[in-house]
Amino acid sequence: EEGKYIKYHGLLCPKETHSEDSLKYLEGFNMRDDDVIAITYPKSGTTWMQEILPLILNGGDLTPVQTIPNWARVPWLEETRAAQVMDKLTPPRLMVSHMPYDLMPPSFFSSKAKVIYVARNPKDVMVSSYFFHQMATFLDDPGTFEEFLDKFLAGQVLFGKWTDHVKSWRKADLGDRILHITYEEMVEDLKGAVRCISDFLGQKMSEETLEKVVSHCSFNTMKTNSMSNYSLVPQEVLDTKKSNFLRKGISGDWKNHFSPEQEAKFSTVIKEEIRGSDIKFPWD
Ligand code: PPS
Repeated sequence: EEGKYIKYHGLLCPKETHSEDSLKYLEGFNMRDDDVIAITYPKSGTTWMQEILPLILNGGDLTPVQTIPNWARVPWLEETRAAQVMDKLTPPRLMVSHMPYDLMPPSFFSSKAKVIYVARNPKDVMVSSYFFHQMATFLDDPGTFEEFLDKFLAGQVLFGKWTDHVKSWRKADLGDRILHITYEEMVEDLKGAVRCISDFLGQKMSEETLEKVVSHCSFNTMKTNSMSNYSLVPQEVLDTKKSNFLRKGISGDWKNHFSPEQEAKFSTVIKEEIRGSDIKFPWD
């Protein structure tokens, strides 16, 4: 334990939302075959999946996304709230997690629970995280952009190294239990992405329902949905004078923040660490 974070197998988790007890809860979690889990490295599309999944599984019914805050609607497996809200969910239970593959609970591996892994261009992940660290008072100050970039590359950030996280889930031997999707594909063609996710979950959707789901999980709609835009969180916790949780919602914002030298340094390290792992991303 150090300052604002608790360490779990070397991973930094914010104390604001994680505790010894919540991490014990994670370890002892009883995964069911019909559970659906969206896995993300932080800032890669978690909140988006917390909107998309309930819309799909409820046939486009807006009630859950308009009445239940995202963190109670699709809880994090490892967070303190899980123990209180998980049992209230009606099956199929929808949940999210930032855990790398190897730290999933034992029951996950023996279950047939379905996984949607969302990856995002690490440069945009870093930018999003940098601004989030400025607004989230429960996280350390990110320092300068350059300092934060170095910490990000060294994995001295929440949930460790981006490359370790992505690689762990890419090599996961889960057959047709896992769907890999990217934030960029979702930005590019949200309708196609929603259709792909609903097919994966075996959920039939009419064209009309599909249109409705897509319109409700657009960035602009989510930005005004108080159950999804984190406006229920007090200003002392998330300071909206500094940034917004739903900040920009685009791909390629890194171009507005990285110098050519920073880009070169960043890409060299990421490419080196990804090399040989047979991973191709749409942003490469
Ligand atoms: S967290 O803290 O891990 O739960 O954050 P996470 O939700 O994974 O990531 C936040 C970023 O996702 C963007 N976001 C969206 N982009 C496009 N469309 C929709 N509907 C959407 N919902 C969330 C959010 O704006 C953050 O990215 P940035 O680049 O900071 O805008």
